[in-house]
Amino acid sequence: MKGRRRSSGSSSRVQFLGSERGRSHQAWYGLLADYYDHLYDPRRVPSAYLFLHDLFRRRGPVTSVLDIACGTFAVDLPLVKRGYEVVGRDLSEPMLRAARRNLREAGRSADVAHGDMRSLRLPRTFDAVLCLGTAFNYLVEPAEVRNTLATARRHLRHGGLLVLDLTNFASFLPNPKNVRAETDYRDPDGTQIAVYAFNDQDRARNVHHSRFITLVRRGNRIRLAFDESPMRIWTKADLAKVLEREGFRPVEWWGRMRLGARYAPRASPRLVSVSRRR
Ligand SMILES: C[S@@+](CC[C@H](N)C(=O)[O-])C[C@H]1O[C@@H](n2cnc3c(N)ncnc32)[C@H](O)[C@@H]1O
Repeated sequence: MKGRRRSSGSSSRVQFLGSERGRSHQAWYGLLADYYDHLYDPRRVPSAYLFLHDLFRRRGPVTSVLDIACGTFAVDLPLVKRGYEVVGRDLSEPMLRAARRNLREAGRSADVAHGDMRSLRLPRTFDAVLCLGTAFNYLVEPAEVRNTLATARRHLRHGGLLVLDLTNFASFLPNPKNVRAETDYRDPDGTQIAVYAFNDQDRARNVHHSRFITLVRRGNRIRLAFDESPMRIWTKADLAKVLEREGFRPVEWWGRMRLGARYAPRASPRLVSVSRRR
């Protein structure tokens, strides 16, 4: 404003990026892809690697792996370092850029490219297919679930392993609505990220409404976004039934990708299923 002095350093410009139902989870990954690996529990990746390596040794042989929603490739990279061949596909270009950066920084290479798990067709099969980190919950329509399980089946050799790692939204049932600070992160480059979750559930439709208010501050610029995604609520019994129907035999259930983490319907943060392709 004319005549008014701007105070140095403290005034911020806020850019509002979207409003209710205006943005999907893909926009959210676009906003956060560069920092995604730092936003959640740092123990997740090493635990998941030990879990998968142990599983592949017990239930193998597994040498080739397809991750149909690989994100930043964070869980896959330790498998590549261990000698597994891992191919990654994902819908989000920003997440794939982060995946390629992670591979470059580790001095490794892998076939990582754009792909939609609902329709992917590669001209080969694998010993194991992974769909981790809640990606399966994004499939709300029955046809999307069917098509994705058909993708997994098409890319698995007979007897190959399908590993699904879902958020156990059923454990939210005693408190289906909640507001909480999900993430409070400050990057060494000075960027600050805050994510507030604002959840709700429609039990009649088995849908969890995942809503995030996200703030990203760089210097005096603040980007503020509101994103909303419907997510499918799965129980172990429902998932087992669908897996059986689509040509898989469930062989193990876990409460998270951590060695020995037993599944407890009301308490486990995750619902992890391991099944064999019939
Ligand atoms: C929560 S992230 C998890 C990433 C990774 N699997 C992990 O565990 O770290 C979910 C990922 O699923 C991807 N995704 C969502 N729908 C997809 C689809 N139809 N096909 C492929 N990827 C999809 C998103 O782009 C995102 O990278």
